[in-house]
Amino acid sequence: MSHLFEPLKLRDLTLSNRVWVSPMCQYSATDGLPDDWHLVHLGQFAAGGAGLVLTESSAVTPDGRISRQDVGIWNSDQVAAWRRITDFIHARGAAAGMQLNHAGRKASTIRPWDGNGSVPASEGGWQSVGADAQAFGVYDSARPLTESEVAAIPALFAAGARRALDAGFDLVELHFAHGYLVHQFYSPLSNSRTDGYGGDFDGRVRLALEIAEAVRAEVGENVPVFARISASDWTEGGWTIDDSVRLARLLGERSVDLIDTSSGGNTPKAEIPLGPGYQVPFARRIRADVGIPTGAVGMITDAEQAEEIVASGAADAVFLARALLRDPHWPLRAANTLGADVAWPDQYARAKS
Ligand SMILES: Cc1cc2nc3c(=O)[nH]c(=O)nc-3n(C[C@H](O)[C@H](O)[C@H](O)COP(=O)(O)O)c2cc1C
Repeated sequence: MSHLFEPLKLRDLTLSNRVWVSPMCQYSATDGLPDDWHLVHLGQFAAGGAGLVLTESSAVTPDGRISRQDVGIWNSDQVAAWRRITDFIHARGAAAGMQLNHAGRKASTIRPWDGNGSVPASEGGWQSVGADAQAFGVYDSARPLTESEVAAIPALFAAGARRALDAGFDLVELHFAHGYLVHQFYSPLSNSRTDGYGGDFDGRVRLALEIAEAVRAEVGENVPVFARISASDWTEGGWTIDDSVRLARLLGERSVDLIDTSSGGNTPKAEIPLGPGYQVPFARRIRADVGIPTGAVGMITDAEQAEEIVASGAADAVFLARALLRDPHWPLRAANTLGADVAWPDQYARAKS
């Protein structure tokens, strides 16, 4: 009996298995609109048997895009474009989730295959905003948000969540990781504010908590809300796993349903001990200490490895990124390996061994 292929119920949603698509930026949209690329890209994972297909980082406001080519969820044209994609995912029996993001000081950057750095205004870039003016790596400095501007951010996430539901998504994930706006606020490395959104732990996590509250109020009681956090800055003086346990508890009290446990991304100087499942201990610790469901992510590549993560109670599900890019049918293959009987698309039934 495979634990990886057991269903998981969160609020009113039942996920058919615990192999989930980790958010992956495609840097391929125009005006924040997903197109045929996004349909085929995300659709292939639904056909490949993933229980949950999460979108890439989707901006709640144009200025919150990482690059000009990011997808977004700030207008009704985008809602209509996403609907085509959620319909396809649902027809395959998978659930659809949207990762909501504001890129903060890491906004307006050149997409990876075109170079590195900030896009100048003359080429369509814009002034990024942040907790303070400190730049990330080679990027331009941010304009620090005023206190009232910070207080307005939760409403942007709530509006994005509402549109995500209108577009047919079953759940939303709040991107609180990888050095984007919310992570910049909660990390002591990147928040030198002296107002109500800075200073001690409580001040620094306030934006995250206010977003969680606003989104829950908007989506109601039936819709799962996930938060992806960076569990460690992997840097002396930075955010730690102990801080993450505290934050996860506070998010759980604000009815966040699952902590997607990533790490890093807030300083280029971090020394990250990459290796198979290197972030799994963070998911295990948060799940054990807080009693909140977690998702594990990072260098999870084998069926047996994924099975062990769920079976041993480190996490309730695994998020896969690069392994799915290499093999979009990874879940179907893993089910075969683990002896789980899962439905294949009728069109592919002759290949099921
Ligand atoms: C092409 C690509 C794009 C990514 N974009 C995002 C993103 O939009 N949001 C996010 O939270 N993580 C993003 N990530 C990180 C992945 O979700 C994942 O956490 C990371 O790749 C580690 O998992 P893996 O070892 O299975 O690839 C991206 C990773 C890749 C490879």
